[in-house]
Amino acid sequence: MGSEDGTAAPAVEAIDLVKHFGDTRAVDGVSFSIPRGTVLGLLGPNGAGKTTTVRMLTTLSRPTSGTGRVNGHDIVDEPAAVRRSMGLTGQAATVDELLTGRENVRLIGRLYGLPLKYLRESTDELMERFRLTDAADRLAKTYSGGMRRRLDLAVSLVAAPPVLFLDEPTTGLDPRSRVELWDVLRGLVRDSTTLLLTTQYLEEADQLADQIVVIDHGNVIASGTPAQLKEEAGKASVVLTVQSAADLPAAEQLLHTCSPEVHVEPASRRLTAQADGLRDMTLIADALRDSGIAVEDLGLKRPSLDDVFLHLTGRRAETVDDETSSKHADDQDSQPTESMQP
Ligand SMILES: Nc1ncnc2c1ncn2[C@@H]1O[C@H](COP(=O)(O)OP(=O)(O)OP(=O)(O)O)[C@@H](O)[C@H]1O
Ligand SMILES: [Mg+2]
Repeated sequence: MGSEDGTAAPAVEAIDLVKHFGDTRAVDGVSFSIPRGTVLGLLGPNGAGKTTTVRMLTTLSRPTSGTGRVNGHDIVDEPAAVRRSMGLTGQAATVDELLTGRENVRLIGRLYGLPLKYLRESTDELMERFRLTDAADRLAKTYSGGMRRRLDLAVSLVAAPPVLFLDEPTTGLDPRSRVELWDVLRGLVRDSTTLLLTTQYLEEADQLADQIVVIDHGNVIASGTPAQLKEEAGKASVVLTVQSAADLPAAEQLLHTCSPEVHVEPASRRLTAQADGLRDMTLIADALRDSGIAVEDLGLKRPSLDDVFLHLTGRRAETVDDETSSKHADDQDSQPTESMQP
């Protein structure tokens, strides 16, 4: 365990983690640390090395080199202590199909040695929290994909671990369940749980993470707060739409006074110029008022995390509403069951 004072060791550290599978450098020197009670979003496209990183940190896979610590325990030298201080919801669902939802939660709770009375209450509470109360006594094999996912999460929370690893927790959830899960996760963080979550959804990282680490081809290609990453992707721009195409040249000239680069789209009567934020925006608004140009719309556009991702990897990330189930199915075939039982 870390020291007792407020400057305790981080809850999770990855220290130059490397994992090679033959010629595949799945993870090639990844380092980061997660302060207690905060959320780290590990962001990256398919095959970036997210799951492999999580599997090493959760002791399911031994690093080729490098190491890590969870709750102060070394993942290579003290795997049992690491497992006691963490919970994991893997990318592939791991519920026992031949047990009911309630039995799945209770089984894991009993393996953790939780007192029965406490377990009964907390199971009810978890079923309620994940909207599984009505289905609690049905066999898990009758559950839909989203219900299994929610049951998986309930199981990983039963022992209230101080550190929780969630590998793409909202993949396969409908938008409502996704937003509900975000709320559950925010509640855990308020109760000082530390979270590492992997995601391909930028919005998810933006919503939940204090800190984002972007990986691609097994390497960290960027890290920082969501705001810092957006800052890196480029400045804000002013977007001006004029009412009449005849005003386009004058408007272009006006925008040039504060920005060397002005992009004009005649068809939509829209001009875009890099800007330093609100200060430039105010200058432009004043100048427009004096110029007599009829303005249809004027706005400030800041880069989104999606722009950041595109900027860094040259690829668009997935959007939240784009459900991709195929890769999930792939993973289920190729990866062994990820159950985290003591
Ligand atoms: N057991 C394994 N044997 C061989 N190669 C593997 C194994 N596990 C992962 N890999 C390879 O390592 C790379 C990283 O895979 P990983 O599952 O960590 O990616 P990911 O970021 O989790 O991707 P996804 O978003 O699709 O889940 C991929 O090229 C993958 O094919
Ligand atoms: Mg993965």
